Amino acid sequence: MSEMDLLIKNGTVVSHRGIDQLDIAIRDEKIVAIGNLKDVSAKEAIDATGLHVLPGVIDSQVHFREPGLEHKEDLATGTAAAALGGVTAIFEMPNTNPLTLTAKDMADKVRRGREKAWTDFAFFIGAAAENVENLPMLERQEGVSGVKLFMGSSTGSLLVDNDEDIRRVLSSGVRRVAIHAEDEPRLLERRHLAVDTVLNHPVWRDEVVAYRATERVLKIARETGRRIHVLHITTKEEIELLAKYKDVATVETTPQHLTLSSPDCYERLGSYAQMNPPIRGEEHRQGLWQGVRDGVVDVIGSDHAPHTKEEKANAYPASPSGMPGVQTLLPLLLDHHNKGELSLSHLMDLTSAGPARIYGVAGKGRIALGYDGDLTLVDLKRKQEITGDWLASKCGWSPFEGDTVTGWPVGTIIRGRQVMRDGELLGASGGEPVKFQECL
Ligand code: DOR
Repeated sequence: MSEMDLLIKNGTVVSHRGIDQLDIAIRDEKIVAIGNLKDVSAKEAIDATGLHVLPGVIDSQVHFREPGLEHKEDLATGTAAAALGGVTAIFEMPNTNPLTLTAKDMADKVRRGREKAWTDFAFFIGAAAENVENLPMLERQEGVSGVKLFMGSSTGSLLVDNDEDIRRVLSSGVRRVAIHAEDEPRLLERRHLAVDTVLNHPVWRDEVVAYRATERVLKIARETGRRIHVLHITTKEEIELLAKYKDVATVETTPQHLTLSSPDCYERLGSYAQMNPPIRGEEHRQGLWQGVRDGVVDVIGSDHAPHTKEEKANAYPASPSGMPGVQTLLPLLLDHHNKGELSLSHLMDLTSAGPARIYGVAGKGRIALGYDGDLTLVDLKRKQEITGDWLASKCGWSPFEGDTVTGWPVGTIIRGRQVMRDGELLGASGGEPVKFQECL
């Protein structure tokens, strides 16, 4: 066998085969051999004794704020945080400034990604009444992960709030449409409840706000035959409903909704726990875990949505919604694994195979011959505090700062390149657009 670029030896590999001691060889960015590779020579080798090797983690929901909101984050800092957290690819949301609604603005984001992203990347094209006719063309552009539709107002002005326009969007194009499901009419009706304290955030944006929107969009998806992916599900009732729509709808929840619950999170963290849709009570957290166990949940994404400390210091409801999370996604899930809540095979399905399957990623999300050499090395036994000096997001905080987790990412390999090792970024940024099967 000719010389390899990178050999990862003696690791415990989590793959479709189960969990085995295997070596992995990468050449020209691709996995080219898996097995006992003792006699294979390589330019570079990593001894992964004592470590687990996962398929590269794909975070399929992040807001990296570039262009236009770079005081909160940019593609360099956001993807640096991702790589430090063991993430090898990210899909970024269109509520930037300008909103990502046109071919020109999409191409601009891809150009910026090529210039400065540490990880591989893709971007969602925003759905709006003004670009609905162009969506079939826009969704096929280089670097597009899918279409994003906001049914309820959140950060930024993207909004498609009525069934007629939602139907038009779902009838235009074929790729997966990611949905922010909160019911705008009910949000407006209840706006007066958003007063005094962030404890009222989940009162204003209540369970019915979420359920109603999810139910509306599921019906339209089935009627139009369009595949949708319902993002950041927060209630046990939606999980029960979504279980009846698995023909058209895949489901995401987030580490924060699986880890935090109201009212404790708001009492401890104030506006740092404020996001849309909100963190809810313990019975919903439990219901989401049930949805994970039952396979209703397909993906765990971070919904990394940074705002500055100064912005968050505004009195509720002037404090913006959203929290960072791309760097803590994997540490939190490894901690849940160590607590017995999630097997490693299931974790891999939710963070690598799941996003790849849902969005039709070409050649990522699996440790198999011919796939990109994207690997995440983790030390399952490492107990580590989440500290401010480790966090790379420009916002400079995390709701999980000060928490100690068991299980930690110690290596990020992207297309055979070591990008992070032991908490340090290596070399230069070298991210490329992710490829998708429907657009090859
Ligand atoms: O809390 C949120 N923040 N939810 C969203 O849907 C948007 C996000 C943001 O961009 O800040």
